[in-house]
Amino acid sequence: MIKAGELAAQALELAGKNAVAGISTWELDRIVNDYVVSKGGHSPCKGYGGFPGHNCFSVNAELIHGIPSKKKILKEGDIISCDIVAELDGYMGDNTRTFRIGAVSEEKELLLRTTEEALYKGIAQAVKGNRVGDIGYAVQTCVESAGYHVVKKYIGHGVGREMHEDPEVPNFGKPGRGPRLIPGMTIAIEPMVNQSTESVNILEDKWTVVEGNGKMSAHFEHTVLITEGEPMILTLPRH
Ligand code: MF3
Ligand code: CO
Repeated sequence: MIKAGELAAQALELAGKNAVAGISTWELDRIVNDYVVSKGGHSPCKGYGGFPGHNCFSVNAELIHGIPSKKKILKEGDIISCDIVAELDGYMGDNTRTFRIGAVSEEKELLLRTTEEALYKGIAQAVKGNRVGDIGYAVQTCVESAGYHVVKKYIGHGVGREMHEDPEVPNFGKPGRGPRLIPGMTIAIEPMVNQSTESVNILEDKWTVVEGNGKMSAHFEHTVLITEGEPMILTLPRH
């Protein structure tokens, strides 16, 4: 899991370096997948439920599951969520960041900062003896106190040999509720945050999930190991 997490994080770092004005999301997807394959890994999203890309690239109002496209060219001022899963030796790392293309508006900047902060508030609760509801409560409180909305329809998850395992890890909840966290568990914590509403729409491509009112949305994710002590973030580019 440590090795798979590192590879997923290195691939995400590479996506961020290449996410500049003028590049298409198809090209970003190709660069990331080529890298993962060159390291002996593989991109399990390809074909998952019929998903056509190797990874998900979601721009501006798009929250998650954006399909890589030669027609989708990044522009200055855009935000792009790169959701990258890498499989290595039978284990999965799953991570996401929303990157800025050049300088972005103040409203996008605040949304990104809050969503990333919510991720770290959630991670801080990922400790032995806590419950999954403690994570969701921390994420939700952070997001809502900034005036934004957590999307409830899509949630974080256990991750291991499969991309999606138990337990479910919602971005909302009540302290002290839900499954107990036990050392050795690996979970993907992934706040998905909308600017103006918790509702979402799905585009005609049947995949792309967008903010319900067409406003901005953001997504940050790490794969985290529950330990006897502090949570260990597995999706860091190097340990
Ligand atoms: N990476 C996503 C997650 O965080 C799932 C990708 S959906 C897929 O859970 F269809 F692209 F695989
Ligand atoms: Co995930």
